[in-house]
Amino acid sequence: MPKTILTGLRPTGNLHLGHLFGAGKNYVKLQDEYDFYLEIADVQALTDNFNNPEKVRKNVTEITIDLLSIGLDPKKVNFFIQSKIPEIAELTVFYSNLVTVARLERNPTVKTEIAQKKELFGNDGESITYGFLGYPVSQAADITAFDGELVPVGEDQLPLIEQCREIVRKFNSIYGETLKEPNAKLSETKRVKGLDGNEKMGKSLGNAIFLSDDEETIHKKIMQAITDPNKIKKDDPANPDICMVYYYHKLVNTEENQNTICQECKKGNRGCVQCKKELITAMNNFLTPIREKRKYYEEHPEEVKKILDEGTKKAKQKAEEQMNKVRKAMQIDY
Ligand code: TRP
Repeated sequence: MPKTILTGLRPTGNLHLGHLFGAGKNYVKLQDEYDFYLEIADVQALTDNFNNPEKVRKNVTEITIDLLSIGLDPKKVNFFIQSKIPEIAELTVFYSNLVTVARLERNPTVKTEIAQKKELFGNDGESITYGFLGYPVSQAADITAFDGELVPVGEDQLPLIEQCREIVRKFNSIYGETLKEPNAKLSETKRVKGLDGNEKMGKSLGNAIFLSDDEETIHKKIMQAITDPNKIKKDDPANPDICMVYYYHKLVNTEENQNTICQECKKGNRGCVQCKKELITAMNNFLTPIREKRKYYEEHPEEVKKILDEGTKKAKQKAEEQMNKVRKAMQIDY
């Protein structure tokens, strides 16, 4: 039996190059090796978007299409919608007895997110809801409801996996050996920098290239990308290592072109405008197959719905089996 892997994404916006290189490409590889459950975490997205249900609803479809267009195969991956699996909510309630509030407040991921919220909204933390503070508990339920053994995530999520493992151990020690402790599976791919040179590409940072960007948007964004600030004239030699245009050439252009670009740039044989235009072409070539698949699914919404329905059905079966074991262990199997 192949191992079960489970991961989740919050449907709060379209995927960008950071998601693709940081996670998506890894998923495409993993789908051939594992029994893969991919959760569209709408309930988790609502923990900090509860006042914006339209946004979450719209992005459930958008993110599913993004994932399909990068090459995830619905025959290999069970796409499912979190809110359609009430067992997750049920498990969350039971797990909440096994976690202290102090432990949640100390969770580094939660702490960082609270700090970010304070920076954004300038409040003193009074607005932190019970649901938000408890989302690591709900995420532990996401994973264990499907007996997830491996969880492909980015580094920022490691404290959540650790929290899940603690809950599992506590559960097993009280109710008997029932649940598996999951392991994080870090992808070997890297973080992608933003158009502005920021270490991280992010939707809220306004520096992202989205997989769904059209040609005109790509043109505009790349023309504004940061280059070596010391290069004033077209034929000044420059340092490609501090240029975002070269940085993206390295992501999407051929190795041969990358070498030429690097050498010409260093020698002063290459103007930034020409270099940006070449990047626009390379980026569009890179995005074309993704765009084509996106277009197909946009024109066939019934197929997207079917993929989610079928994946959710399979996920529901698995969660029901797991829930039976949990209820039995907890002596609430009336
Ligand atoms: N918290 C994850 C994120 O923000 C999304 C997520 C929800 C998840 N449920 C999950 C990740 C279960 C791994 C396993 O990216």
